[in-house]
Amino acid sequence: MSKERGRTVEMSEIMVPQMANLLGNVHGGWLLGFLDRTAYVCGARYCGLNLVTLSVDQVFFKEPIYVGELLTCYATVNYVGKTSMEIGIRVTTENLKTGQIRHTNTCYITMVAIGDDQKPIPIPALTLRNEDEKRRFQEALIRRQMRLALYKDKDPS
Ligand SMILES: CC(C)(COP(=O)(O)OP(=O)(O)OC[C@H]1O[C@@H](n2cnc3c(N)ncnc32)[C@H](O)[C@@H]1OP(=O)(O)O)[C@@H](O)C(=O)NCCC(=O)NCCS
Repeated sequence: MSKERGRTVEMSEIMVPQMANLLGNVHGGWLLGFLDRTAYVCGARYCGLNLVTLSVDQVFFKEPIYVGELLTCYATVNYVGKTSMEIGIRVTTENLKTGQIRHTNTCYITMVAIGDDQKPIPIPALTLRNEDEKRRFQEALIRRQMRLALYKDKDPS
């Protein structure tokens, strides 16, 4: 029997001055890029396929992230449809001097698996192994329905 592939990833990075905005705190754009890379690693680890980002749900920067903190993204595959998947990411920061940990963001990224012909291809179905995974899947399904309703018939031009 083949070993089940991972469906989570934890990625950490120390916040350095090169990531700062003009106020000296971490730039939102840098965090968005890191969230996208984390989602990619999580999804690719699960399915082993090429992925593109379809959407990043609203990201609220409720609290600043400070230079010198250790940022960690905990990512999980919440939902797999036919060719798309939702990755949930919880972001925390750790003050390495005081040990204080803050939960600064949570976001949801949808990725689509793409074949050699650049078209969407199937992703292996997600087996739901416990109550937590079933709850996350159901919640992700509701968010997916909202996204589909929100962007239905939208012309980006
Ligand atoms: C991702 C992409 C290939 C999907 O193309 P598409 O024509 O929408 O393909 P499909 O209609 O087959 O949809 C693919 C999947 O996305 C899902 N999807 C499409 N629009 C959606 C929306 N608004 N909300 C949620 N899911 C959506 C579909 O339900 C389907 O998932 P499923 O197979 O699990 O049901 C295409 O949108 C694309 O190339 N986008 C650019 C990606 C990119 O370059 N990202 C980086 C940006 S810089």
